[in-house]
Amino acid sequence: MRLPERVTICEVGTRDGFQIEPEFIPTELKIEVVDLLAEAAVPRIEVTSFVHPKAVPQLRDAEEVMARIRRRPGTRYAALVPNEKGAVRAVDAGVDAIHTVLSASESHNLANVNMSVAESLEKLRAVMRVAERASVSVACGISTSFGCPFEGDVPLAQLERVVGGLVDMGARAIGLADTTGMANPRQVSRTLEHMMARFAGVEWSLHTHDTRAMAIPNILAAMDCGVTHFDSAIGGLGGCPFAPGASGNVCSEDLVHCLHAMGIQTGIDLERLIEVSRRVQAIVGRALPGQLVKAGPSSRRYPLPDTVAARLSRSA
Ligand code: COA
Ligand code: ZN
Repeated sequence: MRLPERVTICEVGTRDGFQIEPEFIPTELKIEVVDLLAEAAVPRIEVTSFVHPKAVPQLRDAEEVMARIRRRPGTRYAALVPNEKGAVRAVDAGVDAIHTVLSASESHNLANVNMSVAESLEKLRAVMRVAERASVSVACGISTSFGCPFEGDVPLAQLERVVGGLVDMGARAIGLADTTGMANPRQVSRTLEHMMARFAGVEWSLHTHDTRAMAIPNILAAMDCGVTHFDSAIGGLGGCPFAPGASGNVCSEDLVHCLHAMGIQTGIDLERLIEVSRRVQAIVGRALPGQLVKAGPSSRRYPLPDTVAARLSRSA
């Protein structure tokens, strides 16, 4: 397997995660989590989204969150936007990057942003212009890239049309999102090999949900294809309110631990990240899916049972 020396993680827990929490997370706690993530040296954070407050009431405080976080040099602060109004709000709020959203499948795009895919592409053209005027970078995410909870399989040709539409309007960073954890590693490889050959020069990223325990295998498959940008969420928070059956993203600390164990650098302070995950569990008031918070890193050692220690010292 080909593995990169370094990958870039984008933390999406405060957006993908907090958007689906049943209780509104108080603004100051959102700010605290973003600041803690930055202190753990997370290089990219998708802080919030600038969408309609009725569509996602949990993130209705996007402006205030952006205004009050402590900006750490070395961390890029982004927000998700679906249209021009969202882009203008995000730029006014001082984001470093805009992450756009549309789906590869018509039905999920309608459910999520109330537009056909063609309408969404049109709206994103305006988003690109807003971003360009403000010199803010853009990365374009495509939900349901590997399957749709309403339609099932998403044909590769359909995904290719959506990618092509984004590339035509100048997108240089494109994220394929497995919104409800339908992708498998072989499918990820085939999809990426196809897209990489068809669209040269694109910086690809993968946004995974661990709904069916295939997120890390899918990330391994993507790394083998040469992808080095991945989204993940602290504790394994996450889920789309407009995709039935959606559950958490790949867990950030589990992914970082896996990468570091293989000698792949992320620049992230894993010990601190685990502490952030504990804090987030306290904030949401329940245990999260991440394994590392329970098990500790694989460098963890336990005291020897006395009987074993005694036998070892006798035979020494
Ligand atoms: N932020 C705030 N308000 C917005 C907005 C935005 N990004 N985009 C549109 N609006 C407002 C318009 O100004 C308009 O207000 P008015 O009625 O006071 O004039 C109203 O919303 C309707 O505008 P319209 O363009 O018709 O939007 P819509 O009702 O069709 O909704 C979206 C479209 C995209 C705004 C909405 O579906 C949405 O926010 N979806 C977010 C989905 C999401 O975040 N999913 C999870 C992440 S994957
Ligand atoms: Zn997601």
